[in-house]
Amino acid sequence: MAIKPPSLYFSFIFMDSLFSSAIHQWYKINKRDLPWRNLKDPYIIWLSEIILQQTRVAQGLPYFNKFVAAYPTVFDLAHAPQDEVLRLWQGLGYYSRARNLHGTAQVIVSKYNGIFPSSYSHLLKLKGVGQYTAAAIASFAFDEDVAVVDGNVYRVLARYFGIETDINSGKGQKDFKQLAQQLLPKGLAAEHNQGIMEFGALQCVPVSPDCSICPLNETCVAFLKKEVSQLPIKINKTKIKQRYFSYHVFLKDRQLFLHKRETNDIWQGLYNFHLLEGQDFVSPTEGVELFVSKEYNHILTHQRIKAKFFVIDAESIEKLPDFLSPFSEMEIENLPKPVLISKFLNDYASKIFN
Ligand code: ADE
Repeated sequence: MAIKPPSLYFSFIFMDSLFSSAIHQWYKINKRDLPWRNLKDPYIIWLSEIILQQTRVAQGLPYFNKFVAAYPTVFDLAHAPQDEVLRLWQGLGYYSRARNLHGTAQVIVSKYNGIFPSSYSHLLKLKGVGQYTAAAIASFAFDEDVAVVDGNVYRVLARYFGIETDINSGKGQKDFKQLAQQLLPKGLAAEHNQGIMEFGALQCVPVSPDCSICPLNETCVAFLKKEVSQLPIKINKTKIKQRYFSYHVFLKDRQLFLHKRETNDIWQGLYNFHLLEGQDFVSPTEGVELFVSKEYNHILTHQRIKAKFFVIDAESIEKLPDFLSPFSEMEIENLPKPVLISKFLNDYASKIFN
């Protein structure tokens, strides 16, 4: 009598536990010693996860250290002025993360007496805490059996299990979440979740991974089918927008005029010069133009910004827009501002403030 091949169900279960134990073994040997690991303080874990969203560890680490030093507890962060928080965040981008971080710290202090909610479903209610971050805090800090699904997890699972569903689609997000949850060994969520993410960050990297040394290569569907470079499938619908920013920089007595940006657009809460936006650059129509900067190309995730700074003698203007206030060079240094503005100031400080 012929031996029956294992049922599909059986082979999935088999692959699942093989996968999870291989990840666990690999993680024990290869994990980086990072300052937010091996601790259980939900505040520090939350801080690290918000900083690391859309940010590589190497870039995020100095920011993490600065934030922990400035705000060792959620009370310190809650009581800090917003400008100071945004100034520390300067250069990390996605400034809504910093505004939500600060606002949520205030909610944790005022509504929860400084004590973090301890379950996935309660954490999800916090502003700026989405499914990924709630799962990360719940599993790392409170050992809740909930799987994290970030870009690393999508990539590792899509390749190992040969899944061709678009990770940006609703179905993709649901399927991957379900698979990630099914793979989670009960009681080991903290190690397992960090393990898959670390495996994605160090071994199963986006471009040209070295599959020859991968401990999972014998059972990895993408490797066996030579599809590693095609997976995961990610259909991007967001268009890149081209924008033209003309900054009208008013100068008077070695002071420049800025305002805090409140529009519902990039850089909300940061300080800006008077900005005119159009299909092309907009030169000043009034006042004495002292000089014009070079053209800057500033690249954000979904936007390409071309910018020029027109420096104008404020004395030659009848009436400046009344939302602008004057700041000295030192005061400007301490204001939170877009990196684009800092670059301009670095390039032209001697010409402006001499
Ligand atoms: N990226 C996002 N969260 C991370 C974490 N906890 N460790 C390493 N990289 C990460």
